[in-house]
Amino acid sequence: MATKLRRRQAPNPSDGFARDMHYIAGRESERATGPMPQITYIEHDGTTHQVEAEVGSTVMETAIRNGITGIVAECGGACSCATCHVYVDEAWFERLPKRSPEEEDMLDFAFDAKPTSRLSCQIKVEPALDGLVVRTPPYQGR
Ligand code: FES
Repeated sequence: MATKLRRRQAPNPSDGFARDMHYIAGRESERATGPMPQITYIEHDGTTHQVEAEVGSTVMETAIRNGITGIVAECGGACSCATCHVYVDEAWFERLPKRSPEEEDMLDFAFDAKPTSRLSCQIKVEPALDGLVVRTPPYQGR
């Protein structure tokens, strides 16, 4: 008895099944990443940047990726330079996770630290941070 071989064909997006799978994959991807939180950076001179942030990155990494010059981040996020210092908007400060003892120590080296000061490399982006507002100091240095 002869066996009939079937050729596999690449899925055609106009085909019902392929179209449905494409749609489901798109929905899965959307669910996995979700909408990107918006963060507003206000530089010392008043220049304002509203950018989308990737969940899981940090507020510092988002600033560097978006060319926000008020954040230097010399140590690359190792909590050892304080050149990623920001002032968190008062409405947001209490909503963030507390500073670690290492961040507290490093903030002693930040220029003109205030009660709402944070190191932006220590703030992880989460969906709940959508709308976060931070300001950069006039100078990042020791
Ligand atoms: S990047 Fe150096 S302390 Fe944040």
